[in-house]
Amino acid sequence: MRIRTGFKDERTAIIGLFTSAFSESEGPEEGRAIGQLAETLLDRTPPQDILVLSAWRDGAITGCIMLTRLTFDGEPREVFLMAPVAVATVWQGQGIGQALISHGIDVLRGRGVDVAVTYGDPAYYARTGFQPVSQEVVPAPLPLSQPEGWQAQSLNDRGLEPMAGRATCVAAFDNRDYW
Ligand SMILES: CC(C)(COP(=O)(O)OP(=O)(O)OC[C@H]1O[C@@H](n2cnc3c(N)ncnc32)[C@H](O)[C@@H]1OP(=O)(O)O)[C@@H](O)C(=O)NCCC(=O)NCCS
Repeated sequence: MRIRTGFKDERTAIIGLFTSAFSESEGPEEGRAIGQLAETLLDRTPPQDILVLSAWRDGAITGCIMLTRLTFDGEPREVFLMAPVAVATVWQGQGIGQALISHGIDVLRGRGVDVAVTYGDPAYYARTGFQPVSQEVVPAPLPLSQPEGWQAQSLNDRGLEPMAGRATCVAAFDNRDYW
């Protein structure tokens, strides 16, 4: 498996992967919505605010994760949100998702990012160090429909001290439907 961090030549494959993985697991409507989200994230996010990791095998994409910046008023710490995450249906259950997430966390840590946040099934993300977190510690940028899925991990030795101020996500995520 090879992991790529570019998303110019990979753009069409990445959007196709999110559309098909979510269509097959959650239905075609959700597949279209997450494919559209992936497209908007790739096209509208300033380069310093996005990191995309995709896994490839024999020239075909097998998985992808996106990490985008969350900012907090009056908070110097750097925070990235990991979402969405997808592995192609035929490649699921072989460790690709966890390999991408672990690699993404290493890249964030190497760049001096302080905290990683995600929103999804805690049973899955606990495997890569995420723990459920309250919105008093890490405020969410929009109201959460499933607050139990809000998770975070510190990427340094300072622990997860409460974030100061209001949270803002990148423009593509500024839509209640995704939260
Ligand atoms: C969720 C997803 C990314 C996992 O990727 P993956 O490469 O299949 O996962 P891995 O191989 O790294 O890990 C597999 C393990 O995680 C478990 N797992 C997978 N999805 C899980 C979930 N939602 N909740 C809990 N455990 C889960 C599997 O049962 C398996 O457990 P095992 O190792 O004990 O057999 C992938 O199934 C997927 O793309 N699903 C559709 C889209 C989606 O739901 N994305 C996540 C929401 S943003």
